[in-house]
Amino acid sequence: MTATLLRGRLLGFVRRPEGIDDRDAYRYEDDGGLLIENGRIVAVGTYAEVRAATPADADEIDHRPCLIMPGFIDTHVHFPQMQVIGAYAANLLEWLNTHTFPEECRFVEPEHSARIARHFYDEMLRHGTTTAVAYCSVHKASADAYFAEALKRGMCMIGGKVMMDRNAPQGLLDTPQMGYDETRAVIEEWHGKGRNHVAITPRFAITSTPAQMEMTAALAREFPDLHVQTHLSENDEEIRFTAELYPDAIDYTDVYARYGLLGPKSLFGHCIHLSEREADAMSEAGAVAVHCPTSNLFLGSGLFPLKALSRREKPVRIGLATDVGGGTSYSMLKTLDETYKIQQLLGERLNPFESFYHMTLGNAEAVSLEGRIGTLDAGTDADLVVLDASATPAMALRMEVVRSLADELFLLQTLGDDRAVREAYVAGKAMKTGL
Ligand code: GUN
Ligand code: ZN
Repeated sequence: MTATLLRGRLLGFVRRPEGIDDRDAYRYEDDGGLLIENGRIVAVGTYAEVRAATPADADEIDHRPCLIMPGFIDTHVHFPQMQVIGAYAANLLEWLNTHTFPEECRFVEPEHSARIARHFYDEMLRHGTTTAVAYCSVHKASADAYFAEALKRGMCMIGGKVMMDRNAPQGLLDTPQMGYDETRAVIEEWHGKGRNHVAITPRFAITSTPAQMEMTAALAREFPDLHVQTHLSENDEEIRFTAELYPDAIDYTDVYARYGLLGPKSLFGHCIHLSEREADAMSEAGAVAVHCPTSNLFLGSGLFPLKALSRREKPVRIGLATDVGGGTSYSMLKTLDETYKIQQLLGERLNPFESFYHMTLGNAEAVSLEGRIGTLDAGTDADLVVLDASATPAMALRMEVVRSLADELFLLQTLGDDRAVREAYVAGKAMKTGL
């Protein structure tokens, strides 16, 4: 395979920024070079340095004046909800029962699953997202379609067949044994194939009986390295109903803890209304709270205390995500915009370096894949995004007076969307152009 040299303005994080002036938290190269061979980054630095180390027959692509960053990571998204995005409902449970559950029933059909999976990856790449953590539907066919399409595109994807055996339409229910058997089958067929990672995926406590939760516990014991994903503490009525269904649990978080699901590979969507005890338990377990701002605003679920959870004596690990179709945008840039606005409403500041850290290295850490994705470091996979802060007339006009990198990033997150994504590279291959 020939080598590819990308030229552009490079930005990647080395750790979480502590303030807007924390220059050591990131590496920025104004005229940078990034050399890719066999899907990996093999050299990164100034263009002059990397050019000198580049084989003579390498392809060279000049992305100046765009920014080249690690591909975006979306840590919570529902691929079978593409056709209910923006569906009108008063709150979470009404939205699930009226729109989402009936829609997910359609994924029993392999052809439908395959078609939507193709659209899903197209949309991810169009928006610069190169890794996602997705819920499939309850049907094994949906997980098969999801992982087959990821394999075809060479993408690093995490996902799981949803387990749910109550409080939903018949066409969307498995049984404890079926949920166990089919999850095992998905693991055997897909985990470790290409760049696929299978996650144990009980939808949430409301849709799983204690008998099914026992089966998720068994899976978590048998496959301790796998990710676990579920929903936690999103909506007041959901929390109240969960307490009724699991009267012996101390609180909602304890429901999952009792079944061995609270650990460092566990991703909990939402976590808006956690008590101090629950936040302590999450922190001690190293579990991740995944913030889904466009969804939380759209469904009126509440304001996630991102900054407060991060600065606790026992900090909670944080991921950021779209939560499409409860979320209203595929764009991680839009997701940053709404994350910022929610912190504003809570009287907190989130600076643009922190935001872009969260979307790249922060989310890679949240899914325990730092060292593979989320940075521009040599040796990691060449999953990249190329960003144009002058992509629209309004952005170009604003850019005329932008003088700093911080302001450029802030402009990208405030006005940017898929139009600002010029290219997305997956393992060194340009994927957006030609979609
Ligand atoms: N809780 C359980 N299922 C879902 C879902 O599909 N979306 C959201 N936002 N919350 C959930
Ligand atoms: Zn969700």
